[in-house]
Amino acid sequence: NQRGVSSSHPLISSTNSDNTEFGCLLSQDTTSYLYEHKNNGVALVPGAFHAELGLASVMSSSRPKVPLSTCQMSISFSAPCVLTQSSQVLTIKLNAQKAVTAFEVLSSTNAVYAAGHVRKGPEAVVEESTISFQDIYQRCRSVITREEIYEALSQVGFQYGSIFRQLSDVHYCQELKEAITSIKVNKETLKEMYNYCIHPVLLDCFLQMTAVMTSRTLQSKSGFPSGIGSLVVLRPLEEEMMIYMRASKSIGNCLEVCGCFTDKHGSVLAELKRVAITFVKQTSSRDNEFLFENKWKEVSLSKTTGHMGSMPRVLVLADKFGIAEQLRKHLHPDSRYLMYEDWEALLEDQAENKMRAEVEDYDEVLFLWGIQKLNEDFPSKVVEQMAKCCEAYRQVVVALREKSSHCSVRVITYRTTDRYVDHINCGFALYGMTRTCVVEVPEMTFQLIDLSSSSSLDISVLADVLVKYKGVAYPEVSIFQKAPLKDLQKTVHAWINSMDTKRFRHLSEIPLYEPQKQLFKRSAVYVVVGGLTGLGFETVKFIAENGGGCIAIFSRRMPDEEKQEELNAVRQQYKGSKVVFVQCDVTSTSDVERAFQSIVNLFAGSPVKGIFQSAVALHDGRLEVLTLADFQKVLSPKVAGTLNLHLATRGQQLDYFVCYSSVTSFLGNATQTNYAAANSFLDVFCCYRRNCGLSGQAMNWG
Ligand SMILES: NC(=O)c1ccc[n+]([C@@H]2O[C@H](COP(=O)([O-])OP(=O)(O)OC[C@H]3O[C@@H](n4cnc5c(N)ncnc54)[C@H](OP(=O)(O)O)[C@@H]3O)[C@@H](O)[C@H]2O)c1
Repeated sequence: NQRGVSSSHPLISSTNSDNTEFGCLLSQDTTSYLYEHKNNGVALVPGAFHAELGLASVMSSSRPKVPLSTCQMSISFSAPCVLTQSSQVLTIKLNAQKAVTAFEVLSSTNAVYAAGHVRKGPEAVVEESTISFQDIYQRCRSVITREEIYEALSQVGFQYGSIFRQLSDVHYCQELKEAITSIKVNKETLKEMYNYCIHPVLLDCFLQMTAVMTSRTLQSKSGFPSGIGSLVVLRPLEEEMMIYMRASKSIGNCLEVCGCFTDKHGSVLAELKRVAITFVKQTSSRDNEFLFENKWKEVSLSKTTGHMGSMPRVLVLADKFGIAEQLRKHLHPDSRYLMYEDWEALLEDQAENKMRAEVEDYDEVLFLWGIQKLNEDFPSKVVEQMAKCCEAYRQVVVALREKSSHCSVRVITYRTTDRYVDHINCGFALYGMTRTCVVEVPEMTFQLIDLSSSSSLDISVLADVLVKYKGVAYPEVSIFQKAPLKDLQKTVHAWINSMDTKRFRHLSEIPLYEPQKQLFKRSAVYVVVGGLTGLGFETVKFIAENGGGCIAIFSRRMPDEEKQEELNAVRQQYKGSKVVFVQCDVTSTSDVERAFQSIVNLFAGSPVKGIFQSAVALHDGRLEVLTLADFQKVLSPKVAGTLNLHLATRGQQLDYFVCYSSVTSFLGNATQTNYAAANSFLDVFCCYRRNCGLSGQAMNWG
């Protein structure tokens, strides 16, 4: 009870001599569990972590030392702290005044993530020191399973890795809005629990439990904890505890709850009051459709998923997102999990195929390395990650081929189809890559499965698909809300098989649609990347012919004499069009920014209205001979180039953002896995732009 906080707290260290400033390093080594706390795929520091930082810093700075039980903390969370792949440092600043010490948790640029106070008194006052389980259980007669809670949380965007999923089934009373559950602290948390004032993972479990209140009483709405009015830790938390919670207030967009952690006998260990959850306002009817309308029902799994005999023995190239982990119970216990980072660390020696040692005689390989969210603000990084992902995939296929393995490859992508595309990930490239593997490695089976969420329902469906839907029969499966497996029959294989080249002749006989309106404006700028040659040059002529007044051609090489003459001929023929050349390597962000600046000077007053992205680099080769560098080279103009164009024009209302892609991205073409990957990126990226409300059209030339 008289416990102080250890001077060697695992998170904080003093950064000045008077103990008023502390630092906290966030990294995969020091705070790995944080990366398992995600909202819509983005790892966020939980509010509970800030609470620990505030409380621990005040405790550490107190002279003389005070027992934890005499401290009462309040905190409000002001901004989300997004975790990046590289390490980050948070600063905790204290301002002590008599019995109260204020604290702030800040970013390296002084943005405030959370702020609060710790009041030190002779003994903190708690409302009740014991609670009676018997009475509570009598009132709380409905049971919400642990799966339902995590389902409800995932429906509003919260995805938790296994370390955070510690709640048991919750007993709930709807009339009195109170709930109780037990918690058995898992091993990882238990190891370090006693070094913390209140371990963030455990405090977060309390916050997770509010999902019961929100899903049952206020319909599921997207909400975030916005503050804790009072937290007192009376005694160290225990391995087996109960969590009790009661709604205390519900006004407008805010719900307040109070509650406690107790030991097995009902004696209060920590008390929480005025814990506020603020709901995100409803913005559009489309959001309602996503967030509120779905009525979920657990599908019954195939009987075969249950017993070991039919459970596939799998090499899982596992994600950190939690999908692989959630799948674990459906796979054979002898399945092996391989993390991307472990493979990446071996990648230095590029000549050697590091997958050879991994692909033993498994039934199949599950490739989940395309799920990681990529940051579009760093185009060259996106290329780097995507190229590595393709290279890993290539190594898997080559290693399997060398061993004449009958193992099939299933690629799990995340939100890369239709209206679900809402962020960029490596899955964009895996589409084209897989379709090309189907053509280039006909003796192997490939299957693409796209998941629209990581909810337990979708993971159950995924497990079912793994057992029941063989890749040969169902090469592409999309698992999405409302109608899982709906499109199973429309497989690309069936489609390709049904294709009859004669039909293409008929296609060309369909009269072209003649639009009435003017396609291009006189006073607008149209950028054609790669506009000096091939289809790009044809595009330049087409725009000029159809009224486009200002055309800027971007490419790396200056036009030679012959090209100058051709350009002059275009200028002569279409006198109303001003055609200029701007030297620019579209893979370079600074080059693209400079090029758009030159346009502003060259065509003062005319807005950019269209982008035609035709840049390409080729480096064909069979899977056996391709290297990481070849993927980088081919992905760069299409991936980094397109992202640079997207970033440079993000604030502008474009009529056209057209990317020149190829039929290779969906038909595949032996020796062109890298090219197909680059083009399928374009196809999905245009979908992404449209989902963002921006123009975007991929043209699959063939
Ligand atoms: N032609 C076809 O039958 C066909 C079929 C399917 C798809 N496509 C697609 O349509 C597009 C055009 O094909 P194409 O055959 O017309 O190609 P192309 O004649 O080789 O033209 C590509 C252009 O891109 C430019 N470029 C390459 N890298 C660049 C960079 N980093 N920055 C700026 N410009 C760059 C090149 O100029 P510099 O080298 O001077 O930079 C070149 O002018 C390609 O995206 C291709 O994938 C074409």
